[in-house]
Amino acid sequence: MATVSPAVTGGPAAGLDPAYRNGLKAALMFGPIASDIAEAERIFDRTLAPHKGPFGPLVEHLRHYRGKRLRPALLLLTAEACGGVAPAHHTLAAAMEMIHTATLVHDDVLDEADVRRHAPTFRAGWGNKVSILLGDMLFTHAFHLTSTVDGRACQITGEVTNRVCAGELRQVTERGNLELSEADYFAVIDGKTAALTECCGRLGALYAGASEEVAAKMASYGRSVGLAFQIADDLLDLTGTEEAAGKTLGTDLEQQKLTLPVIHCLNRLPAGEAAKLRDLIRAGGEGLGARVLQALEKTQSVTYAKRRAEELSRSARQELECLPRGDARSILEAVTEWSIRREK
Ligand code: IPE
Ligand code: IPE
Ligand code: MG
Ligand code: MG
Repeated sequence: MATVSPAVTGGPAAGLDPAYRNGLKAALMFGPIASDIAEAERIFDRTLAPHKGPFGPLVEHLRHYRGKRLRPALLLLTAEACGGVAPAHHTLAAAMEMIHTATLVHDDVLDEADVRRHAPTFRAGWGNKVSILLGDMLFTHAFHLTSTVDGRACQITGEVTNRVCAGELRQVTERGNLELSEADYFAVIDGKTAALTECCGRLGALYAGASEEVAAKMASYGRSVGLAFQIADDLLDLTGTEEAAGKTLGTDLEQQKLTLPVIHCLNRLPAGEAAKLRDLIRAGGEGLGARVLQALEKTQSVTYAKRRAEELSRSARQELECLPRGDARSILEAVTEWSIRREK
């Protein structure tokens, strides 16, 4: 465990250093789990190192292809708050990040995206075939890693990854369905995003010796954070900048994937206008984003989606009340805010 930086010791989330409140980065560099994150990253790198020989440039790209580490942070902070980080947590945090990275490598094929994490996607650099197989390899390494922990870790991770894949599959099969309901949308994001963040909360708690009751609350915390995080991500896809986000945006509309603000807007517009908007989305092309934003403005749909994300963020925060007060809990509280206010 790392020494806690004076800037981030104690107190509720509101009292945290602003840099800390605004992003995960400072928390990960100076917070109570800094050395644990570093250990999880060593496991991640060590696991893939044997492939350096045949696939040097791919493994090298992966080494620099680091995101925000939200999932390892959730797992390790939960562990810290529930009794302390153990070696199993480092392995599981590496496995969670590996599963997440695998889904992104595949997701960029599905979304035909060129930039991710401020770098070229694997698809842009090596093409779809390599990306599919690299994603598969990351999945299998992740499962192998969990098998070094115990059967329960394998079972939980396997069940969760089934949900993640089903969520992505459902999103692809619903592509072009411009009648998608809010319930369908929530089912998709519950699988593709919230299942994994839920798992991080559960594993962090269970392997710190927490009761089933606390583990269920931490799982629920992770799930709500994941849902809020994905709603915010879908808003960024419509309203964010690629420069700040570091990834290709606008693909949801391009791929005819309806997200919460658009679904809300289509439900609120008079029937004739909604039909016209559907035609526009179907036709695609230049200027679609701006036209959709105009429609969203009319129905206050961005405000609506933000409100839904805020509600989820509040529910997540409430689940943390079972934890003892301290730095780890304060950062988990801050994450609920950060996940809906981030620009990347
Ligand atoms: C991207 O996740 C995929 C979504 C669930 C929206 P992140 O935004 O956590 O990606 P990285 O790991 O930081 O790149
Ligand atoms: C998230 O969906 C993908 C997964 C959870 C696998 P998005 O397609 O919205 O993610 P980004 O925007 O490309 O990061
Ligand atoms: Mg995508
Ligand atoms: Mg997105």
